[in-house]
Amino acid sequence: MKFHHISLFLLSIALVLSNSYGLPVPGKVLNVPPEALLSTGHYHTTCPAAEGIVSQKVAAWVKKDPTLAPSIIRLHFHDCAIRGCDASILLNHKGSERNAYESRTLRGFQMIDGVKAEIERRCPRTVSCADILTAAARDATILAGGPFWEVPFGRKDGKISLAKEASLVPQGHENITALLQFFQKRGLDMLDLVTLSGSHTIGRSTCFSFADRLYNFSGTGKPDPSLNVYYLKLLRKRCQGVLDLVHLDVITPRKFDTTYYTNLVRKVGLLSTDQSLFSDARTAPFVEAFATQPFLFTSQFAVSMVKLGNVQVMTRPNEGEIRVNCNFINRV
Ligand code: HEM
Ligand SMILES: *[C@@H]1O[C@H](CO)[C@@H](O)[C@H](O)[C@H]1NC(C)=O
Ligand SMILES: *[C@@H]1O[C@H](CO)[C@@H](O)[C@H](O)[C@H]1NC(C)=O
Repeated sequence: MKFHHISLFLLSIALVLSNSYGLPVPGKVLNVPPEALLSTGHYHTTCPAAEGIVSQKVAAWVKKDPTLAPSIIRLHFHDCAIRGCDASILLNHKGSERNAYESRTLRGFQMIDGVKAEIERRCPRTVSCADILTAAARDATILAGGPFWEVPFGRKDGKISLAKEASLVPQGHENITALLQFFQKRGLDMLDLVTLSGSHTIGRSTCFSFADRLYNFSGTGKPDPSLNVYYLKLLRKRCQGVLDLVHLDVITPRKFDTTYYTNLVRKVGLLSTDQSLFSDARTAPFVEAFATQPFLFTSQFAVSMVKLGNVQVMTRPNEGEIRVNCNFINRV
């Protein structure tokens, strides 16, 4: 038991140290990775009001409908997960990611349109939809009680969005190996996986996404044994239909805190992928560290969200475009 505490403590120190960035090497400007061209001051001269408009508008929408905060964070994840953070998820044409079956419960599109409309009035053709969505996810996190972080800007909007690629985003049935591979392909590691999954401390899921844990559809086994029996009963009661919504964090559903992680330790994680983070020996130590040290989680969440926002971004002058309407590619 003592040793266990010491190893958790050492792990925590290692986490803090690994997040201190190396300084950029002077003189090495060519061949920099695309995310190195993002900067927090990107719109300081061209649209200084941009960040303020996003935070004001997001606050107004979330005040009217608090359930939009988690939805916008998830929308940002689904954007970055496919073809990088390029607003491809916002394109609303036939056969786009947004119109795929796997995207059917994504929300927050109208809010992004509202923000974009106001920004276009103030600074036409200047601020990308990908940047707006990234800033909105940060602001939604703060409104839910989560940490602040500086958002680097300069993402371009993509011109390609394919429905079939939406199925690449994890749906909640994957094993840890598959999740790790998915994250690694996008430059995100095991720590990022456990940390960003902590977004599930707020928001809701349809019963569809975890119904197989409640009933043995295959007819062979019993309900998922990694599910607390009282929680199982509660979920069976709450889920009368596959479209019914259940809080991802059963204890503090609207608070951005570390209860998500203590839930996993108590076998009351909602999605099979959530609970797996604790049952898999590779990720369990991180879950235990976050369950016991809230500051460690919030500081790492800020770091991992910046990494998520940097995934496969387009930043070169000849790539992508600044979309005028987030729903459509520019006409010429
Ligand atoms: C690690 C793999 C992940 C899986 C398997 C996963 C899966 C899911 C599923 C199945 C839902 C419920 C969808 C529904 O049935 O309506 C959901 C909701 C959500 N996810 Fe994830 N997710 C993952 C990672 C992430 C990440 C990285 C973020 C953000 C950084 C995120 C943020 C959210 C939020 C905030 C919700 C609630 C949305 C709402 O209330 O509208 N998820 N996720
Ligand atoms: C995990 O999932 C992958 C991809 O679906 C599969 O190939 C692999 O066999 C699974 N691993 C385990 C241990 O179940
Ligand atoms: C689960 O499977 C067992 C054994 O096959 C069966 O006795 C039981 O009725 C099933 N339960 C549900 C909820 O389908």
